[in-house]
Amino acid sequence: MKKPDKLNHNQAKKRLAWLAIAIKEHDQRYYQEDAPTISDAEYDSLRRENDYIETAFPELIRSDSPSRRVGASPSRGFSKVQHHVPMLSLGNAFTESDVEDFLARIHRFLNLDSKNTLGLIVEPKIDGLSISLRYERGHFSRGATRGDGFEGENVTENLRTLMEIPDRISGQAPDVLEVRGEVYINHSDFALLNQNREKNGATPFANPRNSAAGSLRQLNPAETAKRPLRVFCYAWGEVSDQFWRTQSEFYDQLSLWGFPVNPLSKVCYNLDEVLETYRVIETQRAFLDYDIDGVVYKVDRLDLQERLGFVSRAPRWAIAHKFPAEKATTVLRDIEIQVGRTGALTPVARLEPVTVGGVVVSNATLHNADEIKRKDIRIGDTLRVQRAGDVIPQVVEVVLEARPKDSAPYIFPNVCPCNQKTLTVRAPGEAVTRCSGEFSCPFQKVNRLKHFVSRDAFNIEGLGVKQVEAFFKLGWIRVPSDIFDLKNHKVVLSELEGWGEKSVSNLLTAIEDCRKISLDRVIFALGIRQTGQATSNLLAYHYENFQNWISAMLLAAKERSECISTVKTPEKVGGAFFELCSIDGIGISMADDLCNFFSDHRNVVELNRLAEILTIQDFQRPESNNSEVSGKTVVFTGSLDTMTRAEAKAGAEKLGAKVSGSVSRKTDFLVAGPGAGSKETKAKELGITILNEQEWRLLTGLDG
Ligand code: IVH
Repeated sequence: MKKPDKLNHNQAKKRLAWLAIAIKEHDQRYYQEDAPTISDAEYDSLRRENDYIETAFPELIRSDSPSRRVGASPSRGFSKVQHHVPMLSLGNAFTESDVEDFLARIHRFLNLDSKNTLGLIVEPKIDGLSISLRYERGHFSRGATRGDGFEGENVTENLRTLMEIPDRISGQAPDVLEVRGEVYINHSDFALLNQNREKNGATPFANPRNSAAGSLRQLNPAETAKRPLRVFCYAWGEVSDQFWRTQSEFYDQLSLWGFPVNPLSKVCYNLDEVLETYRVIETQRAFLDYDIDGVVYKVDRLDLQERLGFVSRAPRWAIAHKFPAEKATTVLRDIEIQVGRTGALTPVARLEPVTVGGVVVSNATLHNADEIKRKDIRIGDTLRVQRAGDVIPQVVEVVLEARPKDSAPYIFPNVCPCNQKTLTVRAPGEAVTRCSGEFSCPFQKVNRLKHFVSRDAFNIEGLGVKQVEAFFKLGWIRVPSDIFDLKNHKVVLSELEGWGEKSVSNLLTAIEDCRKISLDRVIFALGIRQTGQATSNLLAYHYENFQNWISAMLLAAKERSECISTVKTPEKVGGAFFELCSIDGIGISMADDLCNFFSDHRNVVELNRLAEILTIQDFQRPESNNSEVSGKTVVFTGSLDTMTRAEAKAGAEKLGAKVSGSVSRKTDFLVAGPGAGSKETKAKELGITILNEQEWRLLTGLDG
């Protein structure tokens, strides 16, 4: 780092501009993508440098300076919270004899003879992250992560967004009450979350636990609110009045207060019963929608817990009986290379089907070329695979003793499977290998088309993944604009299997209806690297109309290509590029990807074609102050007649409303159509205004 006193005015100005953008980009990677590219120390040093320069040149402080940014704490992370009652951990038992020892220790400690029945509550060990929720006079006042057990992070606002965490405790509660539990994400929600991330060009999370951790640590609570976090509560910290006498009584009380408690908990009275319950939970594991990595045993009576106390940082009265990682061995039949929309080559292990923890596994991810090399995985090898908390099975290791004599190391293809000719490339420092034939690779082409018609893009009814594949094979659609020429194949199409006059006419109508489309959707539909829904929105918001956006991008791409400098100083590159990088939420590498897209004339030709055949609506800024629903939280449930759910959502958001998937005390309106179920019941219970579709249209000015 150059000391500020060594910088002249001009250099300082440039450096501050660079720092503003670089820090913004790193924040984006850290908080939004959960994929930082620099260490915390390097990041802190950038911020320090920014502070030094600003102190030396106060007149140069930018309005978008990282030191001024609203919503972000001065340095990365959250403020600290002291746990007055520490959040301790649990000792582990791995075998039945460990459990027997645990019980014997307790008996010894309490001087109970072995005939004395000792109640133990047996419950799943949730594989999430522990949190502490503080209530003062019944109101949720502070939420914290575990941290090192003594000091955690203040994530109150993020925890407030969890549906399952009551904002107020119903019924009588101690003046001060800290409830502790585990935050997690369901398997089904995790799969959806990752699907969306992939769709938006973000790196998918490795497992539900990581995604829960990343989601809880978002700097922007609105981001956390979008993540399907859940909680199970199982302990308490500081309490001003502890009137429950057993652990199980506490769980009943938690339920009455409105906290989720795991339904599988059971009180057992001897070793056999305890182990039997462990086995039952272990069998249920494969069918649970959340990850558990063991079973916890806790002495039920609190007077006994108190007597037993703690040893080092774990209670004597509780233990975690861990499940063995679910593993199996099977043979690797083949390695298949899948090519995504951006040309990324992903190796997938095709396995001899094998049951792992109750689930038949026939594929496992191999991640990338480095992973195969590191584990020296060869076709024909016997592999140990596991599903240890992860949804996608992983390869643990090769069983070398079983390796066929004639096996050979796997050579990662240097040509794409699309035609066995196009070379693959790997950018320095990147783990991903890509097909270089962006426009000739049929996999990329067809995947781009699938993306173009996907739900958050053009969302053309009747034109899904299967139809796109079929029309692509027939050569009818090669680039997105061809979709609007499908009418030319009407006669042949209605003769194809699975198609009739009616379905063809419906499809063609749906396609025609899509000609009128919003700018953000068009941008998203193009499938530009790193330009997901959020970025598309930012671009649409900033550039307002299609022509503006295209001109600006073309100019930025031109400036970028003319700038040979490798120094990442956007203002040096040029005005349009600098403007692009200055949009809050858009970093240099995103801007580079946009420029790359616009530097290819084939993309420009296609964009011009789209501009001709589509009616792309200018971006509508939320008329926040004029609308009745601005700033309000809305939930849609049941079916809608006049619009799709996605449309209704977009419409509400345009008016400045927040659309939520579930009803809570924070909900202002529930728009309920036919078939509304539990959401309507809950809304009624909470006294939330319920509107039918017509009333919603009137309220939002869609009608009348
Ligand atoms: S009781 C004083 N019960 O496991 C002990 N912990 O390895 C309080 N965990 O830090 C913890 N499920 O994050 C308890 N049913 C459960 C649990 C559970 C998951 C986690 C918790 C704890 C860790 C200890």
